[in-house]
Amino acid sequence: MRSMSVPQIGIFALGDGSHSFLEFALRENVRPEAVIRCVADLHGPRTTVDAVNLVAGLRPELWRTVAPADVPPDVTSFERPLVGLDGYTMPATQADIFTWVAGASYDIVFDAATSIADSLLPVATIERELTGWIYQKNRDLTGFQDGTKNPSLIDAPGIALIADGLPGAGGSVLLLQQWKHHTDQWRGLPVGTQEQVIGRTKTDSIEFPEDRMPADSHVSRTTLEERGIELDIFRRNTAYGSVSDHGTMFVGFAKDQHRLARMLERMAGVGDGVRDALTRYTTPLTGAYYFIPALSSLNGFASPAA
Ligand code: HEM
Repeated sequence: MRSMSVPQIGIFALGDGSHSFLEFALRENVRPEAVIRCVADLHGPRTTVDAVNLVAGLRPELWRTVAPADVPPDVTSFERPLVGLDGYTMPATQADIFTWVAGASYDIVFDAATSIADSLLPVATIERELTGWIYQKNRDLTGFQDGTKNPSLIDAPGIALIADGLPGAGGSVLLLQQWKHHTDQWRGLPVGTQEQVIGRTKTDSIEFPEDRMPADSHVSRTTLEERGIELDIFRRNTAYGSVSDHGTMFVGFAKDQHRLARMLERMAGVGDGVRDALTRYTTPLTGAYYFIPALSSLNGFASPAA
């Protein structure tokens, strides 16, 4: 009999104000088993002793090497740049290991993320990192509420997690993308035009009625319906950056990769030639997919002492 999978519950730990996103590249000639053991050991006492939430992910092919039956067969890396309408391109910057530490304040996040980087040092080096923070409780740096249409915690596990009994049960597919905003251009737009770009009102986040919803609004492009069913994802985006250089760290979880990839294609204007208006005011600098194995799956690879 299969036992019930336990997910990495940090995926659902809303409310933390400070975030560290780290992406690591493997050192040469490290054994995949040794890498996964290091990653599995990260969870150990950190969440209780360090008072942070941790989510750890792996390049899908890397996890597949050690646990071939414990990942959906079709999940892949962000293998190549996504080319959309008129050459518009989203870059592929896939790395091998992903860690996300979230906590109430940046001092504890910093300490936990530093100790994670130390723990992974024998097998990997930091390829890229970003510090995220929550802006005005629930807003993106465009000034719009981000997450209005996000599923509540009642529905989120059913949307973000692979169901028990399927390959990769309790796991999740993550799309991670750093978007840099062109704030001067964005702020130059009248609020009414900004609202057309998003497809919702700015202050109260009220969705435009269907007959007034622009076809190229962000909401139009990311509302995905297939065979009469709306395919949702669970977003945990944060703001990042400084006064002169900032944007959104897009952090989207789903139980299959297809819906994430389709949303990106629709934003880029692949297929029907309508490009998301939002992509004229913010630019993706990175793009990667990570598989987030169930905690119960990762634990199978942990050191006996951990
Ligand atoms: C700079 C990048 C982005 C910004 C600033 C942004 C911002 C927003 C905002 C303000 C909304 C409306 C409020 C809400 O429902 O949360 C929204 C909705 C949404 N976004 Fe994004 N977003 C970004 C990138 C993406 C990407 C890359 C995806 C998917 C791959 C995505 C998927 C969605 C979805 C699924 C919705 C809900 C659509 C619906 O109403 O059903 N977003 N986003």
